[in-house]
Amino acid sequence: MPRKKLIKINEVNSFPNVFNLSENPTEKDFRSYFNNENKIVLEIGCGHGDYTYNLAQHFPDKNFIGMDVKGSRIHAGATSVLENKINNAAFLVGRAEKLNQVFENKSISEILIPFPDPHVRRKSENRRLVSEYFLKIYKEILTDEGKIHFKTDNDLLFDFSLNVISKLNLKIHFLVNDLQINDESDIYRSIQTRYEKHYRKDGRIIKYVCFGF
Ligand SMILES: C[S@@+](CC[C@H](N)C(=O)[O-])C[C@H]1O[C@@H](n2cnc3c(N)ncnc32)[C@H](O)[C@@H]1O
Repeated sequence: MPRKKLIKINEVNSFPNVFNLSENPTEKDFRSYFNNENKIVLEIGCGHGDYTYNLAQHFPDKNFIGMDVKGSRIHAGATSVLENKINNAAFLVGRAEKLNQVFENKSISEILIPFPDPHVRRKSENRRLVSEYFLKIYKEILTDEGKIHFKTDNDLLFDFSLNVISKLNLKIHFLVNDLQINDESDIYRSIQTRYEKHYRKDGRIIKYVCFGF
């Protein structure tokens, strides 16, 4: 592994706003970090953490937690959050498969899944962050009226998610097959993630669905 990456992985674990699944953090640890009872919004596969960082600034009355299996990526977002003294954003290093070990039942008000890896091979379907396997985990931790926001440029993954939503008879709150760059009607939709910026430069069409159980 490159030396710089190793340094980041070690460093990020010492940040006060970063929790690592390997140390068995609980929701209470996040609560005491935020020091309030505001709603929690969880971003899964947050990469460099810029979406969590930007959204936390837009919604000071909500707490944002960005999670990713790669601590070296979280390093960037966690650093910006600390440097800019943003108190309502924190990060979790670990796999989404273990979310129900950290968060209590019905404790998360919204889940954001922007541009997850598509895992195009059929035998990797369960690894897609919008598969039935993951939705079962999200259902445990999401409040009854909670919402899941999913953005992707990938047609296969988008169609897959709509099939899962239909199979499980879930409620679609909003769906758009071509998310316009100037759609300012909703902050979650209008703020672009790092990957989204690349994809838009490539001329790819972005799709979005907001749904709940
Ligand atoms: C394509 S990147 C998108 C990053 C970011 N959401 C964005 O839009 O800029 C997907 C991210 O999901 C993370 N990831 C993939 N599987 C994961 C899992 N099971 N649990 C947590 N993170 C995961 C990867 O490490 C990667 O950073």
